[in-house]
Amino acid sequence: MKEIKNNSFQNMEEQQVYLSRVLEYIKTNKKTQPKACVETYGCQQNVSDSEHIKGMLVSMGYALCDDTDEADFVLFNTCAVREHAEARVYGNLGALKHNKRRNPDMIIAICGCMVQQAAVCERIKKSYPYVDIVFGTHARHRLPEFVYKTIFDKKRVFEISEQESEVIEDIPIHRDGDLKGWLPIMHGCNNFCTYCIVPYVRGREHSREPSEIIKEVKEMVAEGFREITLLGQNVNSYGKGEAHGVNFAKLLRMINDIEGDFKIRFMTSHPKDCTEELLDTMAECEKVCHNLHLPMQSGSDRILKLMNRHYDTEKYYHLIEYARKKMPDISLSSDIIVGFPGETYEDFCETLRMLKKVRFTSLFTFIYSKRDGTPAAIMDDPVSREEKGKWFKELLLVQEKISKENYKDVIGKTFRVLCEGEGREDGFMAGRTDSNMVIEFKGDNTLYGKYLDVKVTELTNVLKGTII
Ligand code: SAH
Ligand code: SF4
Ligand code: F3S
Repeated sequence: MKEIKNNSFQNMEEQQVYLSRVLEYIKTNKKTQPKACVETYGCQQNVSDSEHIKGMLVSMGYALCDDTDEADFVLFNTCAVREHAEARVYGNLGALKHNKRRNPDMIIAICGCMVQQAAVCERIKKSYPYVDIVFGTHARHRLPEFVYKTIFDKKRVFEISEQESEVIEDIPIHRDGDLKGWLPIMHGCNNFCTYCIVPYVRGREHSREPSEIIKEVKEMVAEGFREITLLGQNVNSYGKGEAHGVNFAKLLRMINDIEGDFKIRFMTSHPKDCTEELLDTMAECEKVCHNLHLPMQSGSDRILKLMNRHYDTEKYYHLIEYARKKMPDISLSSDIIVGFPGETYEDFCETLRMLKKVRFTSLFTFIYSKRDGTPAAIMDDPVSREEKGKWFKELLLVQEKISKENYKDVIGKTFRVLCEGEGREDGFMAGRTDSNMVIEFKGDNTLYGKYLDVKVTELTNVLKGTII
């Protein structure tokens, strides 16, 4: 067997050696195949990382399961974006103590954005002695090495160094679905929005090579995937500073040119880097869904400046108008933060005004959560949590009214949907439009994975329609 070199962490080659050693160990020492359970918190980037983690676990000989009580290996892939996300992880980690007592041979691992923070890593080291492996976002491909060390050295493993590697290719993958799949085109973030922890825990932006992305899309299409979502914290800055000179719009065209009946989605787009070129490209590429998630965060120019977002409401609204001119059927969604430090009720009302002006199809709304180490964490924040809660409810009501009105507008219209699975009622299947609306219609499983034209007929607690 090949020798393992020290500190050669920059690719998968060394990991393959650890991987085969663990596999050999499991095959010779375990009477039944051990089970692994991976729980994922946070954004799609994390969901995608977990697919690679599952890929590595399966290659090491584990079977996958969904229940921590059944598992011999439990891994939490964590998120640090808001306090609530972290609190859930601590709670669930506490519950694993009993599992470990019942099954002392089990391995417990925790990874991802939350543990990339040194203080969190320390807390786990001290207060959760039954956690065996802790590794940050820059070490995710090194799971085989960590499992190997846990089994053979019988020592706890902590690896959260900030040393970034270039993009790591060829990590095994076990995809969650067979119809819709994630495809990261870049990692990290350079934007440092003042409220956000992501750039600190994910490191700087690195784009994957266009050839690697194209290769993966082709593989997915050949496997039968019908919808591919390109992922990045800011896909609009894809390729910046890379020698290949392919920007995001060009990449979309290259993917659009790949043969096959599939659709392309992407997220997230930062408004500061969203260009008319990109919107023209979306309009011209028939495989790209006319759906744009463009996080606005706030409708107050003063707050946008404090957030370090590098656009104002005028630029934002221009993008919306341009997108709608080029793609009248486009659906728009956004992220909004309520209660950023120093935000006044007047600022908040500016956000409401923008929401009424733009009329998003859907909205993801968050109450500001203080993240230590970010610039906003030391800004004056005089408004109480209770007051912010009231504003938040007011915002939800405004958006609810808009969404209801939007929904009424779709009755009688025909949409092309991808049939994704069974509907809520017997004898009904569910399909999703480009704009992420779910429509249910009569049919059976033979429709799964097909694109269908469905006319919306009524709105009960779900949208119902008939196949044309
Ligand atoms: N890269 C994406 C967003 C990633 S985080 C982008 O720039 O659009 C997803 C959303 O979480 C953000 O858009 C923001 O609305 C919200 N968010 C991030 N940090 C937050 C914080 N500290 N408190 C509350 N919401 C936050
Ligand atoms: Fe966070 Fe801003 Fe980067 Fe998005 S663009 S991940 S909000 S710093
Ligand atoms: Fe959370 Fe990390 Fe994503 S902090 S939102 S899982 S990039």
